[in-house]
Amino acid sequence: MTVSIAMAGKGGTGKTSLAGLIIRYLLKHNLTPVLAVDADPAANLGLGIGLNAELTVGSVLAGFNENKISIPSGVVKESFLNIKLNETIVESRGIDLITMGRGEGAGCYCFPNNVLKNFIDQLTSNYRYLLMDNEAGLEHLSRGTTGQVDHLILVSNHSIKGIRTLNSILNLVTEMGLDIKQKWVVINQAPAVIDPLVYSELDRLGITVDAVIPQDSQIMEYDWHQKSLLDLPDEAAAAASMNELMAKIITPDQER
Ligand SMILES: Nc1ncnc2c1ncn2[C@@H]1O[C@H](COP(=O)(O)OP(=O)(O)OP(=O)(O)O)[C@@H](O)[C@H]1O
Ligand SMILES: [Mg+2]
Repeated sequence: MTVSIAMAGKGGTGKTSLAGLIIRYLLKHNLTPVLAVDADPAANLGLGIGLNAELTVGSVLAGFNENKISIPSGVVKESFLNIKLNETIVESRGIDLITMGRGEGAGCYCFPNNVLKNFIDQLTSNYRYLLMDNEAGLEHLSRGTTGQVDHLILVSNHSIKGIRTLNSILNLVTEMGLDIKQKWVVINQAPAVIDPLVYSELDRLGITVDAVIPQDSQIMEYDWHQKSLLDLPDEAAAAASMNELMAKIITPDQER
């Protein structure tokens, strides 16, 4: 069975960076093959892990809708679309990446998201791990596009607003009865000392923190120099803390 991991949390709290560090862990421990899905219309997961996705699912679907793609005679429409969607997969050692992107022009993303979901459902069975990096907010959860999730990684920064967003996500998960096996709360970009006000807000909301990932200048430097987070050394503070969390998440019974 494919183990699925999905990211959620307020904008800019570090979902994509931590998704990169999760992929890094899985590759280092040969927990492969991994399928990474960049489900954020403002896609940038590929950039963080050194994979360049030129074709996105959104652009393929938009081209298809606008009849920019001519289907060879004798080919069924759906099969042709599936071939085109397959072309959006960027393959690398142990990891493949598929980028949702956005459709061309204005409009509703429900259709591309639904097509992506069906396509991903078929695709995922080939992988040991599925990692979904989502856009900020609750949209993807409320639309149900995230699907069944084994591990939901809820990311907040060191702020009350970030923690309240996590609380809203947790409430939504309960209200919608989403199929999520385990939830992990992560405070990212944390200073050396967590402010007591942050802890009291967590207590007030009854949220238990599973991991604290420190503010790590190397994450910024890797961004500036466009280096892959997969190459971050184990000594990097954020990588070390993320490794500890991953060792808790990936238990031996999940390994085939
Ligand atoms: N632990 C960390 N230490 C230092 N910088 C970090 C850390 N985590 C993330 N960052 C930086 O914070 C910024 C936002 O991170 P990131 O893009 O991962 O957030 P996000 O939640 O995915 O944002 P969005 O909601 O826009 O998708 C980036 O510049 C990233 O390099
Ligand atoms: Mg992001």
